[in-house]
Amino acid sequence: MDEGGARIRRRVRVRQRSRPGLGSVFAAPTAAELEPGDEEEEEEGELKETVVGSRREKTVEVEVEVEPAQNNDSEEDMFGDYDSFAENSFLAQVDDLEQQYMQVPQLRKHASDLTIKDLCSGSIKHNKLSITTVGNFTELKVDEHTKNQSRHKDVFIEPEPDLLYDVPSSQVLYFENLQNSSNDLGDQSTKEKDWNSFSHKIGNEELPQNSTEHHQQIDDPCSKVGTSSEENRRKSLKEHLKSAMTGNAKAQTPVFSRTKQLKETLLSEEINVAKKAIESSSDDLGPFYSLPTKVRDLYVQFKGIEKLYEWQHTCLTLNSVQERKNLIYSLPTSGGKTLVAEILMLQELLCRRRDVLMILPYVAIVQEKISGLSSFGIELGFFVEEYAGSKGKFPPIKRRGKKSLYIATIEKGNSLVNSLIETGRISSLGLVVVDELHMIGEGSRGAILEMTLAKVLYTSKTTQIIGMSATLTNVEDLQKFLQAEYYTSQFRPVELKEYLKINDAIYEVDSKAENGMTFSRLLNCQYSDTLKKMDPDHLVALATEVIPNHSCLVFCPTKKNCENVAEMICRFLSKQYLKHREKEKHEVIKNLKNISSGNLCPILKRTIPFGVAYHHSGLTSDERKLLEEAYSTGVLCLFTCTSTLAAGVNLPARRVILRAPYVAKEFLKRNQYKQMIGRAGRAGIDSIGESILILQEKDKQQVLELISRPLENCYSHLVQEFTKGIQTLFLSLIGLKIATNLDDIYHFMCGTFFGVQQKILLQEKSLWDITIESLRYLTEKGLLQKDTIDKPKEEIQYSFHITKLGRASFKGTIDLAYCNILYRDLKKGLEGLVLESLLHLIYLTTPYDMASCCDPDWMIYFRQFSQLSPAEQNVAALLGVSENFIGKKASGQPIKKKVDKDIVNRLYLSFVLYTLLKETNIWSVSEKFNMPRGYIQSLLTGAASFSSCVLHFCEELEEFWVYRALLVELTKKLTYCVKAELIPLMEVTGVLEGRAKQLYNAGYKSLTHLANANPEVLIRTIDHLSRHQAKQMVSSAKMLLHEKAEALQEEVEELLRLPSDFPSIAASSEKA
Ligand SMILES: Nc1ncnc2c1ncn2[C@@H]1O[C@H](COP(=O)(O)OP(=O)(O)OP(=O)(O)O)[C@@H](O)[C@H]1O
Ligand SMILES: [Mg+2]
Repeated sequence: MDEGGARIRRRVRVRQRSRPGLGSVFAAPTAAELEPGDEEEEEEGELKETVVGSRREKTVEVEVEVEPAQNNDSEEDMFGDYDSFAENSFLAQVDDLEQQYMQVPQLRKHASDLTIKDLCSGSIKHNKLSITTVGNFTELKVDEHTKNQSRHKDVFIEPEPDLLYDVPSSQVLYFENLQNSSNDLGDQSTKEKDWNSFSHKIGNEELPQNSTEHHQQIDDPCSKVGTSSEENRRKSLKEHLKSAMTGNAKAQTPVFSRTKQLKETLLSEEINVAKKAIESSSDDLGPFYSLPTKVRDLYVQFKGIEKLYEWQHTCLTLNSVQERKNLIYSLPTSGGKTLVAEILMLQELLCRRRDVLMILPYVAIVQEKISGLSSFGIELGFFVEEYAGSKGKFPPIKRRGKKSLYIATIEKGNSLVNSLIETGRISSLGLVVVDELHMIGEGSRGAILEMTLAKVLYTSKTTQIIGMSATLTNVEDLQKFLQAEYYTSQFRPVELKEYLKINDAIYEVDSKAENGMTFSRLLNCQYSDTLKKMDPDHLVALATEVIPNHSCLVFCPTKKNCENVAEMICRFLSKQYLKHREKEKHEVIKNLKNISSGNLCPILKRTIPFGVAYHHSGLTSDERKLLEEAYSTGVLCLFTCTSTLAAGVNLPARRVILRAPYVAKEFLKRNQYKQMIGRAGRAGIDSIGESILILQEKDKQQVLELISRPLENCYSHLVQEFTKGIQTLFLSLIGLKIATNLDDIYHFMCGTFFGVQQKILLQEKSLWDITIESLRYLTEKGLLQKDTIDKPKEEIQYSFHITKLGRASFKGTIDLAYCNILYRDLKKGLEGLVLESLLHLIYLTTPYDMASCCDPDWMIYFRQFSQLSPAEQNVAALLGVSENFIGKKASGQPIKKKVDKDIVNRLYLSFVLYTLLKETNIWSVSEKFNMPRGYIQSLLTGAASFSSCVLHFCEELEEFWVYRALLVELTKKLTYCVKAELIPLMEVTGVLEGRAKQLYNAGYKSLTHLANANPEVLIRTIDHLSRHQAKQMVSSAKMLLHEKAEALQEEVEELLRLPSDFPSIAASSEKA
């Protein structure tokens, strides 16, 4: 057994002894982190978990009820954004439509006033033009459409004019110009006219079967204009709703383009051929790895990938891959692993027509992927659904025609799998892809990932699992767990050169050299005495070798250090650096101010003009996003950052500098080192990447070991994480009825990653003992109840069922370490809930784990306390926190009376949230409480998420019925701590508050606006928006609109469908 194994085993033993304290290992900033200016602050926490952002999206705005927040995301959920809850019920929407129907004449008049009708009829003209040149099939189809349009026109409200009312003037102008030029150029110019797709009349985006479906619906005699006007109106509403939404959602490419239609036909034919090829398990791979050639074209168009790397081709053509065996593959960073996974996902979605789940480690990465794949979804006809932060619907909407690609964080992926199992739909999941598979060995998130995969393996034999990583060592264990094949290669498209810097000498890492390194060069720098003193590590010299023309990342051990280093570097940069992309940097500063209500961090104000910025979790997600955009486009050339960036967003650099071999106070692990240096070298941009690790003589030996030793092994955390691991697993196994008796549960455990590694991790206990112990613990806690079943042969078999408290905890995804406390607190609240202000309710939804890590500033606490109204003071009194106690703490007096620290801390955080809800300005609250604004933001998202968890906890327990309505409202308030008008825009992946404000001010006020926006116009109207970002944003908006339209259609159909148990005439006459 190796050293790592022994270490883990020791840790497990310790945890076993101190059980009650387990499970609270969240990574909200520690006390030290909250102290600005403290060099000792722990940044390491950023690599671990924080509960944040688990609010739920209500894709179909049907009820005001909030969806259960199945789970909390990773710490990176601080990137998460806001949710949208139903403002109107579905019936209210129908009412609205009815109102509109009554006002048709006015609407029409308005429309014609705006000359929009001309545009639309123009579209129809083009439509007719194009059909004459298309073959018989298309001709028939389009004619039918046109007929339908004219038929329906007499009866229905035309949705297009409505949609055009609020279009930004810039867009109207753009399209007017376009229209003029189209008149000049004939139907050629329609290619550019996304606008046409406003017309709901032709379903070009749909694959043929969907179009046929649509036709059938229209041609269905039932949907024709009826005799009674009431019926007529009802039908027309349904059709209107459907067609309007489909039309909007399909706003993408020129609807009437002939080439487009031909391409669509070709695509569907290719898909059919590919489907057949796959079904017949033929070796013929078809045009592009069983996929239509269009996929290849899209990769060229969207990603600039012309040809697959050799290893990618080999991997895709492996026998095991074609046989759909589970697969693990491992390649160095930037090796191009994603493309292989994406092709396999597309095969599953398009050819095998099953849903796919892709699990990624952080919210920011999920969002990046959603933006990147939405355009593929639109072009190829599948949904891309976001399960991160506040987004995601459980169970997912059942789609009729198209398949869904769910892109999820680890936590949301687990909730999604649970919901699919619960609703008996797990076999609809054809493929699960896990990126950064090594994370299975990291804390409670690793445990969650393990549970998810184990459940998929156990419940669905037809679901394929694919895992990838750049840092895997003990692959055999993982292979055994996942029953997977393994593929590996050392390919890296951009060479990575690793260097070490000791004093002013640079050494190249060289595995062939005796001590692992060879001398490379002396650093050629002439430092003044002051500079030598300020920059003993020669960071300025190292950075200026690459910036401003190339990018550079400087990894620092702590957040404070990032800020200091950024400032220090700028102090010694020449004025020449100010001139590089001066105007754009000025824009970045302006935009930062805009998104922060005029506030600007003084450090960033000084560093950005030099092209330098710090990047860590103390920034708000809006600031981070803006800085990342500026870095990606080269406006900023240097980031000083913490280790979070290594695993977070994809921001590669020409040179990566590691300021010290430490993360906080801990010596760097090999895996962390590999991830950080792996950011060096951008494929397609740089021809080479370099990493330089700066070290002091004292660390030399340890560093030499670091660069030469193998990667750390990856170990299961299922048992170590206890309340967030094995206990949660057992509760869900029994709650979901996956396994309810001892034998089955034990059998399940044998199949886990822990089961595979049990002998290394916990020798002194058998798996059987561990299983029994955990079940006993859950039973003692009142979460499970034991039933005894007498089996033949006098054997006794225990089976279990979940108690009400257990179900509530499971449904609310409450960390089991806190479920009893939560129950107690809510029960106490029933005795005297103060509802005169929100404070008491906020207190009840302040996350326990964040409170346990908080260290109040007693002076601030006291000041806040003395400003409380009598009702608010009453809340504190009910909780047992007195002004006298806080006063004593503030003045440093000794306190004899025992006070519950957790309650005091929790109340302090409630004050922060309460102030935030009143002021809605993170900056002023940050100043008032002397807390980093990024922390306040993650506290808010954490509270919103926990509030929805508590709501679902209460829903399962009758005695807490009174909380339900209150918590629905509170969750909304916490979720939308922004101006209400920005919420629809913020639903779009990657659009945060700042960007939403910009868009709103430019006239893009709704999802429909954004979905129909022209990226070219957007980049001209919106400051600091690249073409790439604009395109991704529009694609994401289109995808979302499409999803909403589809969901509404289903809603309508469901509403109008005759219930299957409707009493039949035969039955009633029988009775008579
Ligand atoms: N065949 C290809 N030709 C050109 N570029 C490619 C090819 N395959 C992938 N790339 C590009 O290489 C870059 C890195 O690829 P990718 O993100 O898949 O790396 P990775 O192996 O997942 O690395 P990491 O371990 O760092 O996540 C991306 O920009 C991707 O578009
Ligand atoms: Mg990757």
